[in-house]
Formats: sequence, structure tokens, C-alpha cells
Amino acid sequence: MKVGIAADHGGYELKEIISTFLKSLGYDVKDYGAYELNTKDDYPDFVIPLARDIALQEIEKGIAICGSGVGASVAANKVAGVRAALINDHFSAHQGVEDDDMNMICLGGRVTGFMAAEELIISFLHAKFTGAERHKRRLKKVEDLETRNN
Ligand code: RB5
Repeated sequence: MKVGIAADHGGYELKEIISTFLKSLGYDVKDYGAYELNTKDDYPDFVIPLARDIALQEIEKGIAICGSGVGASVAANKVAGVRAALINDHFSAHQGVEDDDMNMICLGGRVTGFMAAEELIISFLHAKFTGAERHKRRLKKVEDLETRNN
């Protein structure tokens, strides 16, 4: 599976750990930066290129990390076709995919420890959208918003 990962300075350290971890498991990981720790960098500069590649289906699933995970999720959800959420618990890590077809997990590098982050990410990556009719119906209502301004 092709997985993308992006982080600003608040998530840089966790990104490095997660990237190494996923590669050790055989995942094809594309790193969208940051490529060095720069306390002045801005999360949209890394998260949006990842989000665009998810929308283009160049990347199947994405991981975006900032300090809290909030900015990353706010930014990513502006890109049509991206379904991102800040995740802090195991249930949501897989149920978000199963029911809501979440294609980007957002984490807080200053909030979630690396072992917990690894478990959340594995849960997210292993999960599959069920395709149930009720979930498709709900997602269609969300998708319809992407072609409107409100
Ligand atoms: C950066 O200091 C911090 O604001 C950012 O990483 C993130 O937490 C935003 O949501």
C-alpha cells in the first residue's frame, strides 16, 4: 500500500519515527516533509501536497502530523476528496475508515506518544471501508458539499 506522511515542526519527530516504522513493515512510504526541524514552518505547506495526492489517488492513505493534529485536519479537509480526522483512540482509527472512508489520519505530535501513534496508524491502515449502503448515502451528502460554497 502506498502511504503518504507529512508533518510540520510540531510533528516532525513523530513523523521520522513513524516513517521508519512503516518502512520496516514493508509499506511504500512517500514523505512530503518537513525534511528538517524548522520551528518557523507551516503545516499547510506539507499537508496540502499530501492531501492533493490523496485526492488524485496517487496515495491510498495519508498520515498528517502537527503539534495537536488540529491544523493538519482543518487544512486537509479543504481538499475535495480528502476525508481527514484527528484521531486519539483505537476505535475511531478503524471505524473512521469502515464507516466514513477516512483516507487521512491526523495526529498530534505533542499529544500522542510514538507507541500509541504506531498502534493507531496500524489500525487505520488495516481498516477497510465496508461500503454499506447507509454509509455511502451519508458520504454522498458530504461529497455534495464539495461542489457548493456552503
Ligand atoms: C505549531 O506550533 C502548531 O500550532 C501546529 O503544529 C499545530 O499544532 C496546529 O494545529
